[in-house]
Amino acid sequence: MTEKRATAQAHPNIALIKYWGNRDDYWRIPANDSLSFNLEGLWSRTTVIFRPQLSQDRLWLHGREISGTGLTRAQRVLDRVRRWAGLKWYAEVHSENNFPTGTGIASSASGFAALAVAAAAAAGLVLSEADLSRLARLGSGSAARSVPGGFVLWRAGQHDEDSFAYTFAAADHWALADCIAVVSTQPKAVGSSHGHTLAATSPLQAARVADAPRRLALVQDAILRRDFDQLAWIVEQDAHLMHAVMQTSQPPLLYWQSASIEVMHAVRAWRAAGRAVAYTLDAGPNVHVLCPASLAPTVAADLAQLPGVAEVRVATVGGPARVLDTSGTSA
Ligand code: PMV
Repeated sequence: MTEKRATAQAHPNIALIKYWGNRDDYWRIPANDSLSFNLEGLWSRTTVIFRPQLSQDRLWLHGREISGTGLTRAQRVLDRVRRWAGLKWYAEVHSENNFPTGTGIASSASGFAALAVAAAAAAGLVLSEADLSRLARLGSGSAARSVPGGFVLWRAGQHDEDSFAYTFAAADHWALADCIAVVSTQPKAVGSSHGHTLAATSPLQAARVADAPRRLALVQDAILRRDFDQLAWIVEQDAHLMHAVMQTSQPPLLYWQSASIEVMHAVRAWRAAGRAVAYTLDAGPNVHVLCPASLAPTVAADLAQLPGVAEVRVATVGGPARVLDTSGTSA
């Protein structure tokens, strides 16, 4: 049978300097530069199969067919690949994550990064990492940061052409870990795509964005010098600035649960007692607790004892999105 197929894998990432709010919602051009590292041990795997006989694109997540905005966002990526490759065929997309869906560990970053890399490979495109990052950004902004490996910086840029992420330090530069304290398995009420459109309604967003270059420079410097103390306070400040914007937007978004606050207090108490730990939260109640990888087993065990913590997932610093398989492609 004539078809073009490839499978790719990508890791989710955790932002240490957050992306919240777009300069341009359609192109997902962010209001500020952001910085993250990829989460080794967690992955999305996505297979794209372009077939001449399909009459529309179709998407399955864990074997369940998805329609609506999930499919529309995937089509943004597929449409661009078709245009760049001069291909007219629709595609079947099959995606899965090795972390339970619905636990609030962001899967859109890894899912759209894997989709971008798989779709380009299936179509026979040989793209630069920057172009793959731009492609992934069309599905989900933070997916731009899951294409390169290690410690990653996404320059906001002004246009589609100059808004992409790149590695500034390799995955083995610093052995950090993210111990994810899962406090809720409920799907969030307001997804981040919609949340970004509300950011500008907060009077605090302009101040958050204006100060972002200072925070980013401090975090990047802390990573390059492997200075956990400097990293800790600025990462927490950045997360609180984003949540202050969320909580004061119109309508306001309060992603925290009581257990999230319990974890934040515990982490601050541990740090005050001399332990190298810091927290950050994305658009959800789960708390990402950062620490040197050597401390992760004890930090994870202590987090699991806190009230309301259902599960702790531990990830280290991961590599780039990559093609796993193009076998089965026939022309
Ligand atoms: O990529 P999106 O649209 O899911 O936005 C992600 C936003 C945050 O996770 C809250 C912050 C970030 O920079 O990852």
